[in-house]
Amino acid sequence: MLRRPLGKTGITVSAIGLGCMGMSEFYGPGNDQQSLETLATALDQGIDFLDTADMYGLGHNEELLGRFLKGRRERVVLATKFGIVRNRDNPAARRIDNSPQYIRQACDASLRRLGIDTIDLYYIHRRDRSVAVEDAVGAMVELVKAGKVRYLGLSEVTPQTLRRAHAVYPITAIQSEYSLWSREPEREMLATCRELGVTFVAYSPLGRAILTGAVKSEESFAPGDFRRTNPRFQGEALRKNLRLVEGLAEVAKKRGASSGQIALAWLLSKNPDVVPIPGTKRPRYVSENAAAAAIRLSSEEISALDGLFDPAAVAGDRYAPDRMGNIEKA
Ligand SMILES: NC(=O)c1ccc[n+]([C@@H]2O[C@H](COP(=O)([O-])OP(=O)(O)OC[C@H]3O[C@@H](n4cnc5c(N)ncnc54)[C@H](OP(=O)(O)O)[C@@H]3O)[C@@H](O)[C@H]2O)c1
Repeated sequence: MLRRPLGKTGITVSAIGLGCMGMSEFYGPGNDQQSLETLATALDQGIDFLDTADMYGLGHNEELLGRFLKGRRERVVLATKFGIVRNRDNPAARRIDNSPQYIRQACDASLRRLGIDTIDLYYIHRRDRSVAVEDAVGAMVELVKAGKVRYLGLSEVTPQTLRRAHAVYPITAIQSEYSLWSREPEREMLATCRELGVTFVAYSPLGRAILTGAVKSEESFAPGDFRRTNPRFQGEALRKNLRLVEGLAEVAKKRGASSGQIALAWLLSKNPDVVPIPGTKRPRYVSENAAAAAIRLSSEEISALDGLFDPAAVAGDRYAPDRMGNIEKA
């Protein structure tokens, strides 16, 4: 497995990580036993960069990882996030909290669920506009000093917020959506990461499965699947987007690879600072995704895919309006 530096920490991570969110919710029902096998397969394939958050499954995801990490803690670089607050009585409702008091509480709760002493990479999941980023990062620095956290990250923020945070304490990673059909980071964030020595962790790198060819219609999704409410997976927008995926399948066929592998190879071949974290709860998918790290695309192939997935050709927003509101825009 190819490896990439993690910011300026001096450590490296597998160039393809594993997103664990779907093991708990959002993409149809999960199965803990199968998820634990998926995690074990990931390690066997050389994937050692695991991504979770306190809100995935309202704590279930961190607890599941806690079970997996027993006896394996030292083999893994573990990333988790705080800031999106949910409650069991109404799991769909959310508020964002970056207050120093909440950050201290959230970190202790994550450490308890994960059953570990130190989180390797701790991200602000979403920015709370009522708290200056300097104050939120200041509270995270206290966690570093206390030995509860090693490195700091931010998710879905602007380059300006990254610079402000980085001026307080070195930021190790930015995590935002980036894939063939989500190209916003190419505008400014990737260049800012390069300049500051920050790793860019690409979430939803398979476009929440559409780029693998596994999505055929809205009927593909189980009741309650998050994609049923996502604008890009609705009606005419989905039909338009599926036409782009047909072009990707042709490129993949020529390379003797799967569409999903080409989508991951495109991210890795384009930029040395990018680490995609494809999500899955299935051992066979994790093996297929890991193998993408061995595929190098030529500049001609990259340009052809860039053209095919011109941002103007992609239909629909990344999130419904209520969720888009929590994403910082430049
Ligand atoms: N920071 C943030 O705000 C944020 C937001 C979203 C996600 N994330 C993180 O990023 C990770 C990855 O993103 P994601 O899970 O949203 O989207 P993704 O990786 O683009 O896609 C996940 C979907 O693709 C399917 N899949 C994976 N590999 C496949 C393969 N080889 N063939 C066919 N289908 C395949 C999965 O199916 P199965 O579920 O059936 O395995 C799942 O439905 C998450 O797990 C989470 O850790 C972070």
